[in-house]
Formats: sequence, C-alpha cells, structure tokens
Amino acid sequence: MKPGNILVIDDERSQREIMALILRSEKYEVDLASTAKEAIGKFQTGEYDVVLTDLKLPDTEGIGIVQKIFQLNPLASLIIMTAHGSIDSAVEAMKLGALDYITKPLEREELLIAVKRAFEKISLVKENNRLRQQLQEKFHINNIIGNHPRMQEVFEVVKKISNSTATVLINGESGTGKELLARAIHFNSARKNKPFQAINCAAIPDTLIESELFGYEKGAFTGAIGRRIGLFEAADGGTLFLDEVGDLSLHLQGKLLRTLQERQIRRIGGSEETAIDVRVIAATNKRLDQEIKKDQFREDLYYRLNVISIQMPPLRERSTDIPELVHHFIQIYSQKTNKQIQGISREAMRKLLEYSWPGNVRQLESSIERAVLLCEQDVIGIADLPPEICRLPSPMTGLGLELPADGISLEELERELIFKAMEQSDWIIMKAAKLLGLTYKTLQYRLEKHGIKKPGVLAANEADKTSEKV
Ligand SMILES: Nc1ncnc2c1ncn2[C@@H]1O[C@H](COP(=O)(O)OP(=O)(O)OP(=O)(O)O)[C@@H](O)[C@H]1O
Ligand SMILES: [Mg+2]
Repeated sequence: MKPGNILVIDDERSQREIMALILRSEKYEVDLASTAKEAIGKFQTGEYDVVLTDLKLPDTEGIGIVQKIFQLNPLASLIIMTAHGSIDSAVEAMKLGALDYITKPLEREELLIAVKRAFEKISLVKENNRLRQQLQEKFHINNIIGNHPRMQEVFEVVKKISNSTATVLINGESGTGKELLARAIHFNSARKNKPFQAINCAAIPDTLIESELFGYEKGAFTGAIGRRIGLFEAADGGTLFLDEVGDLSLHLQGKLLRTLQERQIRRIGGSEETAIDVRVIAATNKRLDQEIKKDQFREDLYYRLNVISIQMPPLRERSTDIPELVHHFIQIYSQKTNKQIQGISREAMRKLLEYSWPGNVRQLESSIERAVLLCEQDVIGIADLPPEICRLPSPMTGLGLELPADGISLEELERELIFKAMEQSDWIIMKAAKLLGLTYKTLQYRLEKHGIKKPGVLAANEADKTSEKV
C-alpha cells in the first residue's frame, strides 16, 4: 500500500526525531508536534491518515489529547504511545476509539507493524465505504427502470415510506422486481447504513428457516455445536427481507407474528428474549387473500405484514417500459462480455414488444443476456432472440393467411374480415369493432361502405333501393 501522512505528537525531542527517522525511511510523510496546542493546529489544517501520540504532554492531562482529536474527527486513526506502567490510560484511550497502543521505549519493528496495521485498517474502512456507496447507488430508486404510471405510483409510495419502519408487503408475479424494490426501499431509508438481510422462505426447509431467522444456542439440537445469531439479530437496525413469505409454514407464521408484535426474539434453545429493531419487508407471488381462504395463511399475520402494500405490475401491463429496459440490459451485458453492441433492430424490438413475458423483467433480462452473447453484428437482430419470442406469429400469420399466386383484392379481404367479425359478435357492432381494433363509428362507416348486413335483414341503403324498385 502507498505510504500516507502521519502526525507524531511527543514532547521529547529525541523521541520525535527517532520516530521521524524510522517512518521516513519507510517513505511515510511525517509531521511533528511537541504540544497538544501545536498538534491540534496542525490537525485542523493538515490531512493525516494516522496520528501517533504520547499521552504525557505538557499542556493536557492524560487522554485529553485523544478526546480533542476525536472531537475534530471522530473517525481519526489514532495510535497511543505509552510508557510501561501506564497501560490504564492507553486502555481508556482505546475505549474512546484509538486503534492500538505501543509501549515505550519504542522498537522499530513494533512501531512499523502498528503503523502498517493502522493503514490496512483505513484501507478496509475506505473499501467498505466505497462498496456501501456502490450498493446505495446500484439500488437507488432512480436506477429502477419504470416510466409507466403504474411504476411511478410504486416509486411515490417508496419515497413516502422511506423513513418509516412500517412493514411492507410486495406482491407481484415472478421476475417483476420485488427483491430489487425491497433493496431500494432499504437503501433509500434512514437504515441504509445498517444491514439488509434476505431469506427465501420457499427455497429452504422449515427447520432451517427457523434457525436461520432466530438463531440458536449451543446444544439446542443435534449439530448445534455453538451459538449462532439469526437473521433478525444480524439485521439489527436494518431491514430483513422475507422473500416468498406465502410459502412459510403455519407454525413459522405464528412465530413470525409474535416476533413482529413483541419486537423481540428468543434463540432456539435459549431462555432470554432479545429486543430487535428490524424493519420487515415481505414479498410473495401468491394471492395471500386466497391463501387465507384456503387456511394456508394466517389472516392476522397478513394484516401485520400488509401495513403498506405494493403491487408490482407485470411487464405485459407496462410494455412501454420495454425499450428502456432493453437498452439498459444491452449496456450491462455488452460491458460484461466486452462486446460493442450498439442497439437492437426495429424488427427485434417489435418482437419484444409483442411478447407477453410470463417471466417478466427477469425473462427479458436473460433474453438480452443471451442475445448479446449470440450477436455477431453490432446490432441485435431477430435471430439472436430466444425461439419462443422470435417464432411468435404476427397477427396475420396467426390467421393462417397466404397470398394466392394471382394476388388478392384488399377491398374484398376487408369486406370478408368485417363480415366474419360481425358474425362472431352476433352482429353487435360494438363487439365487432373491438375485435377489429376499430371505433364504433369507423366500423359503422365500413359496414355501410361494403353494404354488409346480417343475412336475412336488408341493409338500410338496400332497403331504400328495393322500395324504389317497387
Ligand atoms: N424495473 C427494473 N429495472 C431494472 N432492472 C430490473 C427491474 N425489475 C427487475 N429488474 C431485474 O430483473 C431481475 C429480477 O428481479 P427480482 O429478482 O427483483 O424479481 P422478483 O420479483 O424478486 O422475482 P422472483 O419472484 O422470481 O423472485 C433482477 O436482475 C433485477 O435486477
Ligand atoms: Mg425474488
């Protein structure tokens, strides 16, 4: 790691000079101070990664210097230097947040190891912050694609509830983005710097879910060789995401309800209750109201979970979002595969827009991932799409129509189609207009134009003509 800046505070000149020599020989930048006042002046203006300080300074008592530095920067990385026999004050300084202490007289190796460890710790903290920042950006609500009004409504709710601890129930078909939304709720809430824990209640057996959620004490059951903290405790201060909550057994539903009501848990095999501060977000693709009728889901738990309820719309009901999602996934997967895919052909996009997407956004995402892999041009074409999507019949081929060799009259075809639609709709114009995608008025006009009438009934204009003939 690149050496950084160190501030050394010691009132003994020889000590300061030896330390500066040792540290500079290892390419660290070193600044020196002999009093608390001088040190604080430097600390306020300079940027130091690590501060090494003696606790015996002429102008402060004991750990006074430590307190002052932490007042200026609560995250400062401090190493205490202390004489043999005064370990107590070093321990006190550690309680305040100092990283480490070394005893005088200083040994070169001991000093360098302590400094190296401090820098390693700083880089871990920085890396941790960077990763957290990345997560917060990734799951920021702005990164969930959804311009469709139904999605905009969802985002409105998320913004409103971000600072409450109310339980949320997210309902929606598979692949609609329930987990993504749960993370967005967490990372847009005041709990964003605390853990987000998730468990899929459909993927693991009941007994395992129980120990995962509540933890256990040593010897609680065969195989419990040590104490284990459950997810409720691990998520303390943060959010617990219960995916597929509709698959939870009735026994665990009861236990979950008690936990939500009492806000405390007891580890399996334990005798003490532990208070927990956890926001619960649950998701399911089942209709819980129907599960309640079938006695598969507890009604009281349903009301506990459903304080705020969010319905994720299926992709087919918000197909206007498909183009943006497609471009989003093309970008992600061409970056991942190092390909220079520029976009998608119009025909391929049309196929994607016409498809019904039973697997919703997840299916769209994997279709684009596959297409990017297969694509040999710089634009995704129909041939790159999965067969179930590109073999989708267009409305015309769906009718089994083929052009005869000697051609066809479009007028005739229109007449025939309208006649069929009227027959199929029991000659109710409104119904037939719907079948043909026309307005009532347009169909009425075309019925007149083609002189189409219910067999056995005269069309108005023909009735006139007939009466003229008479
Ligand atoms: N609106 C969206 N914008 C961008 N990506 C999305 C969106 N919705 C879903 N995704 C992506 O689609 C995939 C599926 O989403 P997610 O896992 O959240 O769905 P789910 O509803 O939990 O599905 P399941 O019920 O199958 O568990 C994820 O990779 C997610 O990032
Ligand atoms: Mg999910």
